[in-house]
Formats: sequence, C-alpha cells, structure tokens
Amino acid sequence: MAEHLSQSELDYPFKLMEYFNGFRISKAIFSACELGVFDLLLQCQEPLSVTEVAKKLGTSEDGIERLLDVLVAIEIVDVEVVQGTAHYSSTDVANLYLAKTSPKSLHDMIIYSSQTIYPLWNNLVDAVRSEEEMLKFMRLMNSTWIIDGHDIATVFDLSRFKSIIDLGGCSGALARELSREYPSSSVTVLDLPAVVQTARRHFTQQDDTICFQEGDIFEGDIPHADLYILARIIHDWKEDKNLKLLRKIHAVCHPGGGVLLAEALLFENRRGPTQVQVFSLNMLVQTEGKEHPPSYYTHLLTEAGFTNVTVCRTGKSYDAILALK
Ligand SMILES: C[S@@+](CC[C@H](N)C(=O)[O-])C[C@H]1O[C@@H](n2cnc3c(N)ncnc32)[C@H](O)[C@@H]1O
Repeated sequence: MAEHLSQSELDYPFKLMEYFNGFRISKAIFSACELGVFDLLLQCQEPLSVTEVAKKLGTSEDGIERLLDVLVAIEIVDVEVVQGTAHYSSTDVANLYLAKTSPKSLHDMIIYSSQTIYPLWNNLVDAVRSEEEMLKFMRLMNSTWIIDGHDIATVFDLSRFKSIIDLGGCSGALARELSREYPSSSVTVLDLPAVVQTARRHFTQQDDTICFQEGDIFEGDIPHADLYILARIIHDWKEDKNLKLLRKIHAVCHPGGGVLLAEALLFENRRGPTQVQVFSLNMLVQTEGKEHPPSYYTHLLTEAGFTNVTVCRTGKSYDAILALK
C-alpha cells in the first residue's frame, strides 16, 4: 500500500482506487466473520483445504476460495500450497481479534458494523443533502393537511382559544387551516430551528397569518397559550417521553385551555382501520413510535392532568382528540 503513495496520482490513481475500493475489503472481513471463517480456522489445529472449509461452513467452494484468497492478500489468513493444493490457516492477528472466542475479540463490533452500520451508509448521500431530505419530508407533512386539515380544524369549535401553538408544526400547513378558520386567534408554529428556517424559506405565503418560533418541545421552554396542537407528534415517541411532554404542556397551558391531538386512530381491538395498521407498520421502520387506539391517548392525557377528553373520528385519515385543563 505504502509504495502507491510515492507514485504520482496523476500518472495512475492508485491511492484513489484503494480508497474507493475500501468498502470491498471491509465487506470481505465482515463476511468472513459472519460465515465463521476465523472460528473454524482457530478450532481446526491444522491448515484446511478449500474443500474442507466449504464443507464445514456450508458454502460453495468457488466462493469461499475467492474470499480466503482476499483474506490471505490482506494478511489475516495464511496459505501454504502442498502438491498443488492450497491449505489455509489462521494468523495470530485473526486468532486474537477476529475469532469469537478470543478475550480480545472484535467479532461483535464487526457484526454490528456489517449488519447495522453498513446498510445505513447507503443513505449517506441523502444524509449529506439533509436540507433537501428535510424539505421532502416537510412537503410530505404539508400535503396531508391540504386534504385533512379542514376536518381537524373544524371537528371541534376551537374559537374560544385565542392563542394557539402548533407544537412540532413543521411547514405550518395545519396552523394555516386553524388561522383561516379562527381569524381572531393567534396561531404560532413552534418547531426545531432548522425546520423553522426551512419553513420560512419554502412554505411562507403572502399575507401569512401565522407566526413561526424556533424551539425544542422536549428540551426547551414551551410558551403559555390557550390551545396546543400536537399533530402526529405523540405517535412518534415512547410513552414516558410523551407523558413528560404532556405534563409540561399542562403546566404552561392557561386554565380553561387545552390540547388537541391529531392522530390516525386504531380501533380499540386494533383490528383496523387497515390504513392505520399499515401506518403503524411503517413507523416500525421509521421512528420509535406506533399508532394507538383512542384509549391510549385518553390514558396519557388523563395521566398528564387533562380532563374532558373527547375523541372524534373524522372517517378520513386523521382523527382528533381534544382535552381540557
Ligand atoms: C411527524 S412530524 C409532524 C409534523 C406536523 N405536526 C404535521 O402533522 O404535519 C414531527 C414534527 O415534530 C418536529 N419535532 C421533532 N422533535 C422536536 C422537538 N424536540 N421540538 C420541536 N419540534 C420537534 C419535527 O421537526 C417535525 O416537524
């Protein structure tokens, strides 16, 4: 490797190629660990032929031979050719760091890197383009309320709540529906700074009647208000985090005020609606959360100190729950 560094990269890009092929070497080591190559070579006290390794590990001979030869090339497996047949044995480094039974084994670290971290690196481009990804997500959130926002804003008469804060209100789409419906109320969207900045850049409208405020609903202060909106927030998080948030909201909510949840509600027996079951399955791969039946939200709200919990199914994608302080 080092000799490549002394050559001119302009003549031939050795270093560059070594770097961009690095993932193949990582994956060769990961795969050998997952297949148990190093454990087998340690257990068998004598060198093994390709046929023996393939038989013991249940692999193809061709595949394991190519893998073993790469491991030899990177000096973690030794090879000895006897009468034209290659015999492979482990090196001290592999026995110490790659075999599962060694007290200094890195096996668990390698398995985690292979099975968990490696697939995530597929998302590196999207992660680097995070504003673009965030914008795509915000557009998705925004589009829901184009068709469902009016129902959520009007399913209860919210006109008595003169100050409304949409916590985690994202692009402000639901807040705009509320502001349109209740023009004498002030409506503020509170979301994380990066989200608010993106919302201001991409979603503000001429004559916007809503305000944006940067904040953190879990770590920061929540301003006083009459009504708090939590649309598709509670379903994202685990119960203890939700309870903490609802208690915090209850503490700053004006007396007589309340909280309005907008969520897709499962039936109490969890046997439907199918769309909500599918949403819940989707959340398994996207967030910490899941969809719940009304009793879950009623329980949380009551535990947090709210009363008069009223559930209203809209018959569309999202339902509403109003609770009072
Ligand atoms: C699933 S989205 C729901 C957005 C919006 N309420 C809606 O229904 O369209 C969750 C929102 O919570 C916001 N959020 C997450 N963590 C937050 C935090 N700690 N403080 C404030 N907002 C947060 C996200 O930025 C995002 O806008």
